[in-house]
Amino acid sequence: MPTIETVRSEFPALAGETVLLENAGGSQVPIGVVDAIRNHLLRDYCQLGAGYPASDRATETVDRAHRFMNRFAGGDGIGRTILGSSSTSLMHMLAHAMADSIRAGDEVVVCEQGHEANIGCWLRLQERGAVIRWWSVDPETGRLSLDELRQVLGPRTRLVAFPHVSNLLGEIVDVEAATRLVHEAGGRVVVDGVAFAPHRAIDVEAWKTDFYVWSTYKVFGPHMAAAFGTDEAIADLRGPNHFFIPDDEVPYKFELGGASHEGCAGLCALAPYLGMLAGRDDIDADTCERATIEDAFETITNLERPVQERILERLHAHRHLRIVGPGDSDTNVRVSTVSFVHPGISSGKISSAAHALGFGIRHGHMYAHRLCERLGIPLDDGVVRISPVHYNTTAEIDRLFDGLDRMLTV
Ligand SMILES: Cc1ncc(COP(=O)(O)O)c(C=O)c1O
Repeated sequence: MPTIETVRSEFPALAGETVLLENAGGSQVPIGVVDAIRNHLLRDYCQLGAGYPASDRATETVDRAHRFMNRFAGGDGIGRTILGSSSTSLMHMLAHAMADSIRAGDEVVVCEQGHEANIGCWLRLQERGAVIRWWSVDPETGRLSLDELRQVLGPRTRLVAFPHVSNLLGEIVDVEAATRLVHEAGGRVVVDGVAFAPHRAIDVEAWKTDFYVWSTYKVFGPHMAAAFGTDEAIADLRGPNHFFIPDDEVPYKFELGGASHEGCAGLCALAPYLGMLAGRDDIDADTCERATIEDAFETITNLERPVQERILERLHAHRHLRIVGPGDSDTNVRVSTVSFVHPGISSGKISSAAHALGFGIRHGHMYAHRLCERLGIPLDDGVVRISPVHYNTTAEIDRLFDGLDRMLTV
């Protein structure tokens, strides 16, 4: 496993003035990603498919990024990955593409624990006659239960949209078991993997998810997003791209205007970084096998473990704080996104105090608007969220809490 110093040296932004602990909002990129985007813009910034050398290289870069992201999701041989500008836009695109096949009375299940990106777009299907059912959370803990899911499934279930990890709670949902229940009822799943993907390897083949969406800008890449869909699930949809683009031209049929070319160059450059985390040299987007991706995420999990333990330890020292999400630091239970509220001090005041100390954290409802509402958390103030990734350290967490402890005690 590489040392934390080696890992951090890959990310020039970590040498900046602020300790970046707001990675659930967006992560930093390794220098290789910066270089690849720059090189693409300087050398190959041409339109695709024109047939001259720079255009051919650009075409190959975009194709390679799609293949690599498909393997990143574990989707080789079973489906395709669509690239877009954000998870929100990809989920809206999927909802729009699905709308054609919705019949009056079809049931669509949305999840109270979700980020609004995977809720609002599905609610619009009501205009097509869909009936919305809610997979609700435990109002104390925010936790989802499979029993609750069973109760909202039925013979008319077409779709269940739910998060793999809530961006507020950090708790890992049993995506495989939930997907199995939905499939038994005859529905499909759209899983929001945005808050999971920076922390663990995605494995759509093992989980059998129909659609799985994540934001590459939170997984050390450029500001883009990706949606894996199985061949079978994609075949049910009508892609929104121009009428003269054949239906079977996937993923392009689903990529309005195509994907960011320089962004694709950046995505490919993530492969050597994952190779480094996995202890392998000479890895590129074509040679980055599943084993490398899985080993890289094992390193990521191992680097995150002490950091998330330290946050929970320091929070547990203040018994009056409400940890919003699991208090357990087990990496099988949660990822390192940790939220809390103080009974007497606003979340805004706490995050401002952290900013003054040089730490980038955040407060608010984080677009998990309905979850905050259900948990009785004031929407105008929300939670304080600390969200390290593998390049953060226990020393950073200690410095943050050493600075905040007095305030949190009162
Ligand atoms: C869990 C979750 N889902 C979806 C989104 C939306 O992602 P994007 O910004 O790519 O639209 C976010 C963004 O913060 C998120 O945290």
